Amino acid sequence: MKGIVLAGGRGTRMYPSTLAMSKQLLTVYNKPMVYHPLSVLMLAGIREILVISAPESIPALRMLLGDGSHLGLDITYAVQEEPRGIAEALIIGADHIGDDPVALVLGDNVFHGAGFPRLLRSARDQLDGCTLFGYPVSDPERYGIGETDAEGNLVSLEEKPVEPRSDNAITGLYYYEPDVVEIARDLTPSERGELEITHVNQIYLKQGRARLIRLGRGYTWLDAGTHDSLLAASQYVHVIEKRQGVRVACVEEIALRMGYIDADHCHSLGTRMGNSDYGQYLIQVAQSVA
Ligand code: G1P
Repeated sequence: MKGIVLAGGRGTRMYPSTLAMSKQLLTVYNKPMVYHPLSVLMLAGIREILVISAPESIPALRMLLGDGSHLGLDITYAVQEEPRGIAEALIIGADHIGDDPVALVLGDNVFHGAGFPRLLRSARDQLDGCTLFGYPVSDPERYGIGETDAEGNLVSLEEKPVEPRSDNAITGLYYYEPDVVEIARDLTPSERGELEITHVNQIYLKQGRARLIRLGRGYTWLDAGTHDSLLAASQYVHVIEKRQGVRVACVEEIALRMGYIDADHCHSLGTRMGNSDYGQYLIQVAQSVA
């Protein structure tokens, strides 16, 4: 399975913080936001990852993530010239996807929860069409919404409905079979001028090939795309990390635990981070598994 992180958009909701910097490079407590979606793909076992972003944001993302080899990954980059919608990422990423299934994750989505890696991998193994991940929210009008029947089967999908039929938000993580590229290419822009990911998902639903996995109360899903939600995500990560002494979305630790890099390499990545707490943590993790 291939991976795509969509770190597009202008971040207009977060001006002036995003006038000179991409939203996905803003800090969620102690590390760049993009580490969160990247860690989701890594935990799903995906190593070939395309990062899509606005032209002016690519150099900084490249400076941060490089070619991914230090994490045992293969990271490449592609440009989204204008914010023309999430589904455009599947067209931009067509060559990267090739004949493989793909996981698309939005650059401002934060996922956390026990058992998430296992869930990600089992969903991957059972993929048939498209798999969406739902999460109950108190403000469903802000999201794509999925309505289910009594058995939990998806029956409708709507983008930001004024009167939501359910509180089940469709999170910014999507698994697709490779035919998604053709589906995305056939889309026409919505009223807001975007290729809507919800339209892609509606087509799979119509074909009877859309599955919803509900992330229950044991999970946390946050989007960090507004000042308030970024602060909430930072506070969440801060509380968990301080209480447990672990790091959330620490991509080097994930690379180590997934077997993408060895302990010596993790140790040297920690050393390179100098005196930062993060560097010290990497050294400690490397020593604990060596
Ligand atoms: C997008 C999608 C929406 C989804 C959300 C998740 O909304 O259009 O369906 O629920 O991401 O973060 P946006 O954040 O672009 O408004």
